[in-house]
Amino acid sequence: MGTVETNGLKDMIACDTRISSIIDDKLTYAGYDISEFMEHKASFEEVIYLLWNGHLPTRIELKYFETELRNNYEISDAVEQCILIQSRPHLHPMSVLRSTVSLLGVYNVQAEERSFEAVYQQSIELMAKMPTIIAAFVRLRMGDTPLEPRKDLGFAANFLYMLNGETPSELEIEAMNRALILHADHELNASTFAARVCASTLTDIYSCVTTAIGALKGPLHGGANERVFDMLSEIRQSGDAQAYLQEKLDSQEKIMGFGHRVYKTQDPREEYLREMAKELTQGTENEDLFLLSQEIETFMKEKKGLIPNVDFYSATVYHVLGIDSSIFTLIFAMSRVAGWIAHIQEQQKNNKLIRPRSKYNGPSNLKYIPIEQR
Ligand code: COA
Repeated sequence: MGTVETNGLKDMIACDTRISSIIDDKLTYAGYDISEFMEHKASFEEVIYLLWNGHLPTRIELKYFETELRNNYEISDAVEQCILIQSRPHLHPMSVLRSTVSLLGVYNVQAEERSFEAVYQQSIELMAKMPTIIAAFVRLRMGDTPLEPRKDLGFAANFLYMLNGETPSELEIEAMNRALILHADHELNASTFAARVCASTLTDIYSCVTTAIGALKGPLHGGANERVFDMLSEIRQSGDAQAYLQEKLDSQEKIMGFGHRVYKTQDPREEYLREMAKELTQGTENEDLFLLSQEIETFMKEKKGLIPNVDFYSATVYHVLGIDSSIFTLIFAMSRVAGWIAHIQEQQKNNKLIRPRSKYNGPSNLKYIPIEQR
């Protein structure tokens, strides 16, 4: 019996898109190489606008867009109460985020509306409330009261403020902003594809984003970054990076934060995160984390020819920004939701149900045997 080698749909083209592309190991958003945003210090809000609208905003458009986001930062007491109920040690933070985002759809009386205006409002709400949900979860889990979002702060700064209770420094805001931009979209990665499949049934946006969060949670996708930090901590304790890594490789374990389905020579996002990790740790107690990361990178290159991906240095960046490793993947989701929403809207604008076929390779022509004779 023959089997079809699907190879995880490797290199298969599954849709047309104007949102982002990866060509020759370069990542572009709506035609702009990501280096443009880094070089010109673009804001995350500008990038969200670009992904959703296909062009960069004018000053007026950006002001209006930022105001809309800021007016929607707040979450209701009911949502906060549900986060509190879920703040249990056995629940994975991504599961809490997944359920809470789903709940936003339950509490929005217009969640089933499909007009352009309604979907736009739902998109703004999802985008704006995600940081508030995450920060509230972190504080409630520690037994603290969540902080009210600050409308006078932009997306990155407000998130860091709600998380740490202090107005972040310019360097911290810039690092957070850059990390958000670098994670905002990535062509047909697993969670985005999952969101598009869901969207192709013409279901609501909350269902699509909930689906995407579920896919992002896995360790082969967004879940890798928290495991990178676990690895760095374990190696810090063991004190011997090479022995640690060799043992993992000998037992056929994957080293988190290395390898990529599409990039083979360099993940273009990684160099900026590496730079940030270096800048943020230089001369601080965390400098050894950066040096250790470099040692791991060299080892993996020499032993396996593998390159670090977006998750590798982002672990150090997030740690230095005061973010606990258990919520690293949530930060990824908080950024990638920008791309998910862009793809959901693009899919539904020119929709065709995504429904591939499978090749059946199980037994056939079996005869039903009544249960008492089995
Ligand atoms: N550690 C050790 N070996 C790795 C590896 C890693 N992180 N990533 C890939 N490899 C090896 C595989 O064992 C395989 O070797 P083989 O051909 O000798 O069997 C080869 O490289 C190809 O890997 P494969 O898993 O088939 O590639 P893929 O395209 O299916 O997977 C990833 C891509 C990202 C899922 C994979 O590299 C991985 O699991 N990385 C770790 C998780 C991670 O960082 N995910 C975040 C991605 S942004």
